[in-house]
Amino acid sequence: MITNLRCIECGEYYHINRTDYRCDKCKSPLEVNHQDVEWEVYSTKGVWRYKEMIHPTLPEEFIVTLGEGATTIYENDKLSAYSGVNNLHLKHEGRNPTGSFKDRGMTVAVSEAKRLGLNHAICASTGNTSSSAAAYTSFAGIGMTVVIPSGRITKSKLAQAVAYGANIETFDGNFDGAMRKVIDSVGAYDKPYPLNSINPWRVEGQKTIIFELIEELITVDYIAVPAGNLGNTSAFGKAIKEMKDWGVLYDIPRIIAVQAEGASPFYRYMSEGGSDPLVPEDDPQTMASAIRIGNPVNWRKAKKSLEYTNGIAVSVSDEEIYDSKRMIDLSGIGCEPASAASVAGVKKLRNQGVIDRNDVVACVLTGHILKDTDIILQKMEENAARETAPA
Ligand code: F0G
Repeated sequence: MITNLRCIECGEYYHINRTDYRCDKCKSPLEVNHQDVEWEVYSTKGVWRYKEMIHPTLPEEFIVTLGEGATTIYENDKLSAYSGVNNLHLKHEGRNPTGSFKDRGMTVAVSEAKRLGLNHAICASTGNTSSSAAAYTSFAGIGMTVVIPSGRITKSKLAQAVAYGANIETFDGNFDGAMRKVIDSVGAYDKPYPLNSINPWRVEGQKTIIFELIEELITVDYIAVPAGNLGNTSAFGKAIKEMKDWGVLYDIPRIIAVQAEGASPFYRYMSEGGSDPLVPEDDPQTMASAIRIGNPVNWRKAKKSLEYTNGIAVSVSDEEIYDSKRMIDLSGIGCEPASAASVAGVKKLRNQGVIDRNDVVACVLTGHILKDTDIILQKMEENAARETAPA
């Protein structure tokens, strides 16, 4: 069994110990490449159940885990009726240790940092990556700097990163600016280790969302996911392709990448035919702060995911996102605003007749309801003001 890094465009191979995750020749992103893998699961629960398919050569002593993965898949009559899809499944990634799907990628990337013997990491974040990175690096005894776009992340997410002891650097600008700053500061061994999804080990961990979904549901026609920096969209396509290559999947589910209308560079890019390069949005705007991203770093990998799975990119308005969130909350399941984009996207494609009433559809809910309580209270106050306003 061999694991190395490979350029997703020109196919150049690199040694696994490299920490500059861009190709020297064509500057495209690198991905983790496993050769001669045999699908073999362990009895451990969660992400590391799939160790053979995400980091087969990692000695177990380096694994940094807080017990991530093995999240619940829900079905709910109210949400089936709301979306118009009878066979609707909701996989809740908010049930992870720090309340988002990031923990699945972080357990693998921080374990890799440990294997490499690194002692300082960095990330930019709209809030969830920073919370997760702060927790996992603290647990591993690795220093952590998080670069936060000033005033643009929720209080609960900022509080989490502070509480786990990360060094907080505020960036005067939006997420894309903060991300650029991080990209410029990483690369060589003496630089901090990047924990954003440009790190291909994050993608390896997030593949397990698909492994679990398909192991539990067996057949799935569509898998919908909120899309921001496109780490999950990338991971989902890689997981589906690998399962197919390794002979454990027959019918390929179609990925639905759902963006918020005001922050939808990938949706526009794919709708316009997907010829390079993606044109970023300078001033992305959406109430779903987790996916307020105009220049997604993983667009090349995400494009391959949609191409391989005959996937769909779709955009939904803030009103559609919030309406879906309200229904998910009222069902007792609950999620943060960005997460509800998956259900809003499915409802829209069902209304357009793309998805059939009887298709098997899985929506990934990416974050916990407590990740953004401000918006809930703000809407409550707006409703109260509307009710008391003179007619
Ligand atoms: N949903 C939530 C709750 C998120 O926090 C994010 C990304 C996404 C969806 C989009 O996922 O980037 O893989 O397309 N949050 C990042 C962060 C950017 O910094 O926490 P993606």
